Amino acid sequence: MMAKPATSGLDRILTLELVRVTERAAVAAARLRGRGDEKAADQVAVDAMRAELNRLPIKGTVVIGEGERDEAPMLYIGEEVGTGEGPGVDIALDPLEGTTICAKNLPNSLAVIAIAEKGSLLYAPDVYMDKIAVGPGYPAGIVNLDASPQENIENLAKAKGVPVQEITACILDRPRHARLIEAVRATGAAIRLIGDGDVAGVIHTTNPDETGIDIYMGTGGAPEGVLAAAALRCIGGQMQGRLQLNTEEKIERAAKMGISDPNKVYSMEEMARGDVLFAATGVTDGNLLSGVKFGRDSIQTHTIVMRSSSRTVREIKAHHQDMEKFG
Ligand code: FBP
Repeated sequence: MMAKPATSGLDRILTLELVRVTERAAVAAARLRGRGDEKAADQVAVDAMRAELNRLPIKGTVVIGEGERDEAPMLYIGEEVGTGEGPGVDIALDPLEGTTICAKNLPNSLAVIAIAEKGSLLYAPDVYMDKIAVGPGYPAGIVNLDASPQENIENLAKAKGVPVQEITACILDRPRHARLIEAVRATGAAIRLIGDGDVAGVIHTTNPDETGIDIYMGTGGAPEGVLAAAALRCIGGQMQGRLQLNTEEKIERAAKMGISDPNKVYSMEEMARGDVLFAATGVTDGNLLSGVKFGRDSIQTHTIVMRSSSRTVREIKAHHQDMEKFG
């Protein structure tokens, strides 16, 4: 039988290889859960992710990473990773998404990565992004950044076939969201306020029965926005993002990354185009992923890994008995 042709330049085998990358970062960070040291937890996750990435047979370029080259010594934007043999790919990563969550040992910190063909991910500067996202199964255009919170919530409730009171929005608990929170509560909908971690917040909209979250709304990091869009591209759903380019300096920084319209609303497809691979491993326990568990004889990890072209979503619970490989 003839082998099924690959659907893009991304090798299928990479999907599973990615799991090792996020597993290793998650285990490293998990060793520092609840120690109150965000920086240390982030650093070990970065080191671990970088080491594993450099084993992958790719010519990878970090396009969403730990920051600009002068502020991040490793996994900075523009860093070349991988063995250098294999397809040229763009990489968006966050070795520890939710550093504070990890430091406090609260739910939903993740090690996250997305890989796409060259030029397929939005090269977003590290600024804020206004975001709105819902999971799969709704008519196109059901949510819109330019519509009021009330319109978005009411349209969603109608499409879901439930009273507004049965809709829950996930919003980062920040003073900047005071008006948004007030507007959402005025509709009668409930809010899940989260301390951090809006990549998880967006992903949670894809499984409201499990997570209790129907819609993500509010302003968070732009890099996290691209990562979340990559995840939704694979699972299904809708998302929009608008960079907050509210100073000349930010507009210039974005222009250097190829962004000419500072007010543009990006669709999910514009943030993560073509064939996208996405993996996330739980660091702390969460609604969709369990955190790393350290046993006497093995380490357990829980990872979700998916690919947009096939829409395959795999959950991998791994028992690692060779604990030495995690250092
Ligand atoms: P870190 O992992 O870098 O700590 O980011 C956590 C996070 O909550 C993101 O999920 C979110 O997009 C961003 O911070 C929000 O930024 P801010 O804390 O400045 O409101």
